[in-house]
Amino acid sequence: MVGTGYLGATHAVCMSELGFTVVGLDVDEAKVASLGAGVVPFFEPGLEELLRKNLESGRLSFSTSFADAADADAHFLCVGTPQRADSPAADLSYLDSAMDQLLAAGLKPGALVIGKSTVPAGTAARLAARLAAEAPHAGLAWNPEFLREGFAVEDTLRPDRLVFGLPAADGGVAEAVLRTVYSQALEAGTPLVVADYATAELVKVAANSFLATKISFINAMAEVCEVAGADVTTLAKALSYDTRIGGRFLGAGVGFGGGCLPKDIRAFQARARELDAGHSVAFLAEVDAINLRRRARVVELATELVGGDVRGKRVAVFGAAFKPNSDDIRDSPALDVARALHAAGAIVTVCDPAAIPNAERRYPELRYDLNAVEAARDADVVLHLTEWAEFREVDPELVASVTRNPVIIDGRNTLDPVRWRQAGWTYHALGRPNV
Ligand code: UDX
Repeated sequence: MVGTGYLGATHAVCMSELGFTVVGLDVDEAKVASLGAGVVPFFEPGLEELLRKNLESGRLSFSTSFADAADADAHFLCVGTPQRADSPAADLSYLDSAMDQLLAAGLKPGALVIGKSTVPAGTAARLAARLAAEAPHAGLAWNPEFLREGFAVEDTLRPDRLVFGLPAADGGVAEAVLRTVYSQALEAGTPLVVADYATAELVKVAANSFLATKISFINAMAEVCEVAGADVTTLAKALSYDTRIGGRFLGAGVGFGGGCLPKDIRAFQARARELDAGHSVAFLAEVDAINLRRRARVVELATELVGGDVRGKRVAVFGAAFKPNSDDIRDSPALDVARALHAAGAIVTVCDPAAIPNAERRYPELRYDLNAVEAARDADVVLHLTEWAEFREVDPELVASVTRNPVIIDGRNTLDPVRWRQAGWTYHALGRPNV
C-alpha cells in the first residue's frame, strides 16, 4: 500500500483483515512509526482496533523503505492528489514520486500496480506508458475508491460497487489479480463494473460531482426558500419521496467541505478545459459558488444578529471538522466561517469533539473549548456548523444560562427548533422561516 494517509491506512488494515500480507509504505516517518505502534494518526471509528488486531496477526507492517514491498504481487497507489497551490488542477507530484520509488525498488514479473487515488482522466494511460517503458513485465489497473470518512472501514470491507479500469489487452491478467484481491466482496454480490482506464478515472470524479451538485441544488433551493418564506427541510422531505431523486445528500446547510468534494469539482473543471470540454462541466463552477455563498451567508447573518458589527462580539462555533465523526478540517465550512468572523474582529471560540488539535495547530488565532457550554459562555451568538450528535444533545437551557444573548444559527438544520425556542433561544436556520 503506497501512501498511508486516510485511504492507504484504511485499505492496508482492511486488506490485512481479509487475510493478505500487507506492507504500508510512506515517506512520512512519523506516520509509519505511529501506525506500526498501533496508533491511527487520525480519527476514524473502528480503525484502530482493527489495526492493532492485524499488527498482532503478523500480516500487517509499515515501512518507509520501498524495498520492503519489492516482492509484492499487487501495489496499491493510495497517495493524495490535493489541489495545486497555484491552480485549481490536481497536484500529481505525490503520485509521480510514488511511481519513481516503486520503479527504483523494482517490481517483480507479473506484479500489478493498482491506482486508487482520484486522478484527472488520462493519468492512468500516462502511468501505463511509463510502466511499459521502464518495467514492461508489470501491469497497471485503475480502481477508484469511494470510501467516506467516518465509515471508512465499513465502506472498504463492504463497498457498494467495485470499478476496475483495465488495460486494453493484457489477456485478463490484471482483472484476475483484482478479482483475487476483492474475492470476498465479489462473492458477497458487490456489483462490479469493468471499464477502460479513462472511464474508471471519470467514475470517481463524476460521482463526487453529482454529490456536490445535489448538495448545492438543495442549498440553492434554501436561498430561494429564505426569500420566499418557505422551509427547505420540508421541501427536501417532499422531494425525497420521489425515488428518482432520493433523500440522501439533500441536507441543506452551510454546504460541503473536506478533502474530496471541493477539490475534485475544481480539478475536474481544470482537466475538462484541457480536454476542450470545459463547457460540459461549466455548471460545476456554479455548484462551487453556491457552496461558498452559504458560508458567506452565515457570516452575514451572524453579523446582522449581533447588531451589524462583529468587532468585540463573542461568537461560539459548534464544529471544526468538515463533517461529524471526523477530525478532518480540510476545507471545513465551520472553520472558514470562524476565521472570517475572527478576521472581522469577533472573539471566536470553537468547540469540536475530535478536531480541536488539528484546528488549533492550523489556526492558533482562534480560541478553542472542548466543552460546548463553556465555548458558549458570554457568547453574543452561537453557530452550529458541524452536526455532531454531541451538539444535538446539548441542553439548550443550560447553554442559554451562560450566553450573553441566546441567539443561534443552525447551519446544519439538525437541531430541534422547538426545543431551542422553548428554552428561550432566537433560533435561525438556513433556508427556513424564523417563526
Ligand atoms: C466524499 C464521498 O462521499 C466519497 O464517496 C468519496 O470517496 C470522498 O468524498 P467525504 O468527503 O468523506 O466523502 O464526505 P461526505 O460524507 O460525502 O460529505 C461531504 C460534505 O458534504 C461534508 O462537508 C458534509 O457535511 C456535506 N453534506 C453532505 C451536506 O452538506 N449535505 C448533505 O446532505 C450531505
